[in-house]
Amino acid sequence: MEIDYSKRSFSYYPTNAIVYATCIDGKWSEPVETDNFNLSLHCFAGIFHYAPSCFEGLKAFRGVDGRVRLFRPDENAKRMASGANYLDMPSPSMEMFLDLCIRCVQLNWDFIPPYESGASLYLRPILVGINPQLGIKSANDVMFAVMASGVGTYSGAKALKPGTAVMSRNYDRAATYGSGGYKLGANYAQSLHAYNLAHNQGYRELLFLDSATHSHIEEFGSSNFFAIKNGCYVTPDSTSVLPSITNKSLRTVAEEFGLKVERRTIYTDELESFEEVNSCGTAVVITPICRIDDKPALESDTVTKVIKYSDECGPISLKLYNRIIGIQKGIEEDTYGWCMFVDERKA
Ligand SMILES: Cc1ncc(COP(=O)(O)O)c(C=O)c1O
Repeated sequence: MEIDYSKRSFSYYPTNAIVYATCIDGKWSEPVETDNFNLSLHCFAGIFHYAPSCFEGLKAFRGVDGRVRLFRPDENAKRMASGANYLDMPSPSMEMFLDLCIRCVQLNWDFIPPYESGASLYLRPILVGINPQLGIKSANDVMFAVMASGVGTYSGAKALKPGTAVMSRNYDRAATYGSGGYKLGANYAQSLHAYNLAHNQGYRELLFLDSATHSHIEEFGSSNFFAIKNGCYVTPDSTSVLPSITNKSLRTVAEEFGLKVERRTIYTDELESFEEVNSCGTAVVITPICRIDDKPALESDTVTKVIKYSDECGPISLKLYNRIIGIQKGIEEDTYGWCMFVDERKA
């Protein structure tokens, strides 16, 4: 059956199979490929209570040349390893991470959207503690699994359609000395309620501030913040912000285009002086922000300040976006060697 990817949002859509491996007593199993999506885990497994869990998100793109590419999967492998290290639990090696990602793409080859659709096969690697436990301890045994979903554009919105944001002054995503710099499941649980409040009020993005002073910008609920001002690419420098692979790539491309890159504290007072403001992440690369509302409390109707930006993606952001998409889809030369090719498995 032909899939209409234009009707798909960034959601779970069933695919063929998943692949996983377990590490028990320090020894990794061989990868298991299965069409059984119901994993069997001990009900006392750590993942069900203390949240020993980290995960990743990356995409497989079908390029203009028909070939399939993963974008910087080595960066996802490193970020997962840093999260596992923070949780004091085992992590897959770089080689294993890449191998399971490749297998997952090959197993779900029929679900890689065509180039023209603009859609992609989203990979979701997870690493969870599985040994039965009671009492707060790090996981000894883990399962590493990679699963996939053929996704359309985020929220069903057209690419680069600007969205509104609200600043969160009474909910924090991550503590100053907490785990915000790692892609842990626990961080998302922490931000869900505030995220729902913002979304139910029609905001596309929720902008978190630093938890200690609520005076400077951290990041959006599921993406990083960057702005353009006086020929500079400006993005927050904070250990409690997730090190976004998209942001890292945009910084490289910004330098290629002659922009100065500044990673520094961005106080909320500076927001009005930015020429272009965006959120960035794997899901859509860039979402231009057309308005930021400042509210003393997310639940209240009171808006103390409205900061407006253009209703269209800014020209510099657009240039950066096109370069990243160009590399991901094989339209432009991958001068940085960011893409990893995946070939169809021979029968
Ligand atoms: C909190 C948060 N920040 C930033 C990002 C963007 O990171 P990346 O560009 O690696 O997708 C994500 C998405 O993964 C995220 O969930």
